Amino acid sequence: MEKVAFNLEQIRSQFPTLARTVNGKPLIYFDNGATSQKPQVVIDRINEYYTLENANIHRGVHTLSQEATTAYEEARISIQHYLGAKHAHEIIFTKGTTDSINLVAFSFGELLKKGDEIIISAMEHHSNIVPWQMLCERKECTLKFIPISPKGELDLVSYKELLSSKTKLVAVTHVSNALGTVNDVNTIISSAHNVGAKVLIDGAQSIQHMPVNVRDLDCDFYTFSGHKLFGPTGVGVLYGKEAMLNSMPPYQGGGDMIKEVTLEKTTYNSLPHKFEAGTPHIAGGIALGTAFEYLKSLDMEAVQQHEKELLDYATEQLKDIEGIQFYGEADHKVSVISFLIEGTHPYDVGTLLDKMGIAVRTGHHCTQPIMDFFKIPGTIRASFAFYNTKEEVDAFISALKRAVNLLK
Ligand code: ALA
Repeated sequence: MEKVAFNLEQIRSQFPTLARTVNGKPLIYFDNGATSQKPQVVIDRINEYYTLENANIHRGVHTLSQEATTAYEEARISIQHYLGAKHAHEIIFTKGTTDSINLVAFSFGELLKKGDEIIISAMEHHSNIVPWQMLCERKECTLKFIPISPKGELDLVSYKELLSSKTKLVAVTHVSNALGTVNDVNTIISSAHNVGAKVLIDGAQSIQHMPVNVRDLDCDFYTFSGHKLFGPTGVGVLYGKEAMLNSMPPYQGGGDMIKEVTLEKTTYNSLPHKFEAGTPHIAGGIALGTAFEYLKSLDMEAVQQHEKELLDYATEQLKDIEGIQFYGEADHKVSVISFLIEGTHPYDVGTLLDKMGIAVRTGHHCTQPIMDFFKIPGTIRASFAFYNTKEEVDAFISALKRAVNLLK
């Protein structure tokens, strides 16, 4: 796909869902943190696979299987290039971020021993907390937490005090799904490496907002989900450095991950197949490659600029609403705004907004420890993508004011 100038009208026309109505009103989709809408090229690619190419991969001598295999492996290469990974076999297809993190927690976890330490932060999504708790229980390891500040930033002074030769892994989110905070992952990674620890970066909320180069970051693992970056649900990626992935045992056993099976013993396939047991989400993987090609065709600088304008504009407008309290006021944020309005319940606000065609997320956003920190049950969260507009923000603000008037 050729690089095209950032033209909002043209971009919006590529996303069919954005043209629909909800409850008789034009849809305003501000729940991009939960999942993004899909461009027509991604939808068409899924359709094309099932219409013309449907076959299993890595298994057939027949033409259809070979075509499907080629398309799937080309998608892997597109993703490798986008991430700046050294090898295509460092890109492992998974079901999504949760699956990627569980893979590392199980497999890297097998290398740990009693007394080893893992550091996560207090702003993680549950998917970057629970797998480590399960691992620590299984292997008698200790889980430590980087605290957050009232602005919703990570306390990196405390982080450095937590690091020691016992630290084997640091697993942190690049961007908080609930607060929008962009963490200083460069410092987190280099400090961890100084004590010999490995680092997993949860990129579920970052890769759709900013350029990511895993070699520049020098992270050991990077994870994300396809559906949050304009691709299909049910497919995602674990990037891992080759040496790391080679040192780890397989996560699941089954077809495709083996070299040789006898009834007594199995030898394992090379990367990436060692970690891809069973028939994968073939259409999803291929269409994820298309989503990356689509992303590549965008002017990422213009995307970032536009999203920053939406964030600043919406934040300013929201400040006018009486009784509003923001959660997540970091200096460096993506286009995510979490807030509460005094005297209203987030669920009621979300329901009334939906009646006016506006989709936001309400609740704890799978980050209960963040909510505990702020002593709240949940927030209203508006999360913008590059296809959102200032006019939509205006409509959102006036709908919000109407909702608050009705509820107060
Ligand atoms: N993790 C997704 C969100 O933040 C579902 O909404």
